Amino acid sequence: MYNPFSLEGKTVLVTGASSGIGRATAIECSKMGATVVITGRNAERLQETFNALAGEGHRQVIADLSEQEGIESLVGQLPPLDGAALCAGIGLTLPVQFSTREKFDKIFNTNFFSPVETTRLLYKKKILKPESSLVVIASIGGITSFNYGSGIYGASKAALNSFMKFCAREFAVRQIRVNCICPGMVETPLIHRGTLTEEQYQQYMQMYPLKRFGRPEEIAYGVIYLLSNASSWITGTCLFIDGGGDN
Ligand SMILES: NC(=O)c1ccc[n+]([C@@H]2O[C@H](COP(=O)([O-])OP(=O)(O)OC[C@H]3O[C@@H](n4cnc5c(N)ncnc54)[C@H](OP(=O)(O)O)[C@@H]3O)[C@@H](O)[C@H]2O)c1
Repeated sequence: MYNPFSLEGKTVLVTGASSGIGRATAIECSKMGATVVITGRNAERLQETFNALAGEGHRQVIADLSEQEGIESLVGQLPPLDGAALCAGIGLTLPVQFSTREKFDKIFNTNFFSPVETTRLLYKKKILKPESSLVVIASIGGITSFNYGSGIYGASKAALNSFMKFCAREFAVRQIRVNCICPGMVETPLIHRGTLTEEQYQQYMQMYPLKRFGRPEEIAYGVIYLLSNASSWITGTCLFIDGGGDN
């Protein structure tokens, strides 16, 4: 059947696959025909994702991507890739007056340096094949959304979004495409680890024109588009999937 969005025959790495957006991305990519290599830190939850994958031939790798050894270990176990979706990340809500260098280091290490170093090695070691596609999950935070307490998180994602535009320029010599997705608030464990009360949570939802937060699958569908041949002339951009945004 004709389907330009198909991932049939493609091998795709998905980080952060043990939860939320990464898990949905791995599962939906497998349903679209991809063979996936999934990675996360929590073995039990990663196995749950693995069990939910459609088709065969998938692999799972446990790795802590906040550590250089973890990134190198993961990259060393990868087959040649047609695509990668870098979803691993952590959240933080903290007013500026408490935003110490230590907090910046922790968030930037996982949300910025980890995907940056993973990207560098995937490219340098030629694991990303020519004409492959790299998709990185950034955020509307720090780009169109500047909520109270989101300074460190938003800055880490804005930096990531910026860096990936440079990668898009440089990797184009191998016809490798690089794009970000900027989600608004998505119903995953990440947003429930913050400091919002249930009431604040409901109020926040009402700021979105569609009056709800996103579902992980709604981000995964965007990843599929950017991994597929349907987006073959898209690079260096950021796809907003944010229900109209929060302001
Ligand atoms: N949910 C939202 O509203 C939202 C909005 C915009 C952007 N995002 C971004 O979307 C991405 C996915 O977030 P989510 O909402 O799906 O969060 P989540 O449910 O908490 O999942 C986060 C994933 O990242 C992995 N991870 C975190 N630190 C890691 C590390 N040091 N090494 C390896 N893996 C690590 C986790 O693995 P383990 O659990 O196995 O440790 C987990 O699989 C993040 O980059 C986040 O910033 C989320």
